[in-house]
Amino acid sequence: MDTSILPPQSSALHEPRGILRSIAAETQKRLIVAIDGPAGAGKSTIARAIAQRLGFTYIDTGAMYRAVALWALRVGVDLDDLHRLEQLAKEARIEFAAGEILVRLNGEDVTAAIREPRVSEAASKVSMAPGVRRAMREEQRRIGATQSVVMEGRDIGTVVFPDAQVKIYLDAAPEIRAVRRATETGAAVAEIAQEIAERDHRDRTRTEAPLTQAPDAEYLDTTRLSPSEVEEAILKLVRERTSNGKGHH
Ligand code: DC
Repeated sequence: MDTSILPPQSSALHEPRGILRSIAAETQKRLIVAIDGPAGAGKSTIARAIAQRLGFTYIDTGAMYRAVALWALRVGVDLDDLHRLEQLAKEARIEFAAGEILVRLNGEDVTAAIREPRVSEAASKVSMAPGVRRAMREEQRRIGATQSVVMEGRDIGTVVFPDAQVKIYLDAAPEIRAVRRATETGAAVAEIAQEIAERDHRDRTRTEAPLTQAPDAEYLDTTRLSPSEVEEAILKLVRERTSNGKGHH
């Protein structure tokens, strides 16, 4: 796999504001903010906003699994064929546009295609393949080795970056998660609720890197919180975990 992050179109979008500007610079080291949790907990919206506030690179690892799943569906690879899936994962060329939603697979804009329900389901299946996970993990570690990132997914704080300085497990009541996803996609809530329940079950019970809260992750229930409240709670945690008691207020 070859994943690249394209430069932002507008640099103004990525100017971290106020006190947050200095976090990475002051600590003089790379920071990894790992955000894990089930589908519809609000990870993407929040992780993107946090990355923008901090001036870090945002990585949606779910989009990487989705891109491989889309490719597998298109070329007709059997989702049980672990060997072929691993090959696809290794060959995939994925591009993210920094700070934006754009995702490209092998040069093609697949931003909308990877959000289709059949791809959501396929991604959850593809992500069970150990070889696929290995390829993803290596790529995600490579990205995090050279820059400060906000990375969201299912296994970031547990497996990909067990030493991440900041780990958050984002959760919300299943009904709320279904409503949020339905609002995003325009589908019926009951249908989405069913899909999410199946996908969560698969993601939580798979043998390889299942979705689970890391022991040192902060659990945040977003059921009754607005996106900006969640954002502030996470930024507070970032400050606490990076200031070693001598820094920011
Ligand atoms: O976050 P998402 O809904 O876009 O993720 C799509 C699927 O990819 C999800 O059902 C499980 C899988 N996934 C994973 O196994 N590990 C990750 N780090 C991210 C996503």
